[in-house]
Amino acid sequence: MAPQDDNLDVVEEAMVAEVEKKPVSTIVIIIAMQTEALPLVNKFQLVEDHDSVFPKGVPWVRYHGTYKDLFINIIWPGKDAVLGVDSVGTVSASLVTYASIQALKPDLIINAGTAGGFKAKGANIGDVVMVSDVAFHDRRIPIPVFDQYGIGARSTFLTPKLVKELDLKVGKLSTGDSLDMSPQDEAAINANDATVKDMEGAAVAYVADLLSVPAIFIKAVTDIVDGDKPTAEEFLQNLVAVTAALDQAVTKAVDFISGKCLSEL
Ligand code: ADE
Repeated sequence: MAPQDDNLDVVEEAMVAEVEKKPVSTIVIIIAMQTEALPLVNKFQLVEDHDSVFPKGVPWVRYHGTYKDLFINIIWPGKDAVLGVDSVGTVSASLVTYASIQALKPDLIINAGTAGGFKAKGANIGDVVMVSDVAFHDRRIPIPVFDQYGIGARSTFLTPKLVKELDLKVGKLSTGDSLDMSPQDEAAINANDATVKDMEGAAVAYVADLLSVPAIFIKAVTDIVDGDKPTAEEFLQNLVAVTAALDQAVTKAVDFISGKCLSEL
C-alpha cells in the first residue's frame, strides 16, 4: 500500500498547488451582526438572495454580487425567530459556515466582526486585528487530550502581504459564547494568550478546517475587557463607530485580494 499512498500524496499536493495558483474567485464573509454587515452590503452593492441556498425556514441571510472580479457573499445568521435579536455565538456561526461552504464552495472565508480587546496585550478601542490563531475559552474538559480538544487551538490561514498592506495589528483570538468574562474564562483566555475575544471565530475556524477551506479573521475592538467600563455598555456605545473601521479594513482586504491567488496573500 505504501507506494500507492505516496503517489496519492503527490497527486494531492499537485492539485493543491494548482488551486493555489488560480486567483481567488468566490469569497464568503461571515458576519454575526446586522449592524456590522449592512454597510458592507451597501459598499459592495450586494443584493439579498430571495431564492435561498439555505434550508427553508432558517433565518440565515445571504447577500451576494460581483465586486471587481470577485463573487462576494456576505452571510449573516439573521435574527432569532423567537426573540428577534442577531443570532450571535458559536452554534449559529458553525451552522452558517457549514451550509455556506456546502452551497457556495468558496476559495476563501473571511470572518469579520467586533471583539473585546485586552489592553494588557496592546489593544485599543477601534483597533482592527488580523487573527493569527484561534482557540475556545469556555470548553473545559479536564480529561487528558479531551482538554486540548475543548480548547480547539488552531492557526489561521497566513496572509503576511495582506497584513503588511493594511498595516494591521496581528494577535490571537479567544472565542466563547458569553459577552462577559467569568474568572474561569479569564484564566483560559490568558492561557490562550489572546489579544481579542469574540463569540464566533474559533467555531468558524473549526468548520473551515474540517472542510479544508482557508479562513481569515478580521476583528475590530469595541470594548476593553481588562478596562474599567462595563463591557455591554462600552460595546453598545462603540459598535457603530468601530464597525466603520472594521468595514473599511474588510473593503481594503477585498480590494487587495482581488486578482490574487491564495499564495500571494
Ligand atoms: N464582541 C465585542 N465585544 C466582545 C466581548 N467583550 N466579548 C465577546 N465578544 C465581543
